[in-house]
Amino acid sequence: MIVCVCNAKNCQTVRTTLADAPHVDTPAALHRAMGCKPQCGRCLPSLAELIAEARADETLAGLMAAAD
Ligand code: FES
Repeated sequence: MIVCVCNAKNCQTVRTTLADAPHVDTPAALHRAMGCKPQCGRCLPSLAELIAEARADETLAGLMAAAD
């Protein structure tokens, strides 16, 4: 599914970028990591949710690994 229409970025691209760029924590930084810039801004809330999901998943994975 396309998340950022202006830059033709889909969910898979966003998730891959987040996995490869653990320092990314804002939609603006995510756009930079994907090699583009925010334009209309409509995707910013969705990108913020995807960032939060990715970082929560990483935290959970870290906690589970520490418990092993
Ligand atoms: S939809 Fe992402 S900047 Fe317009």
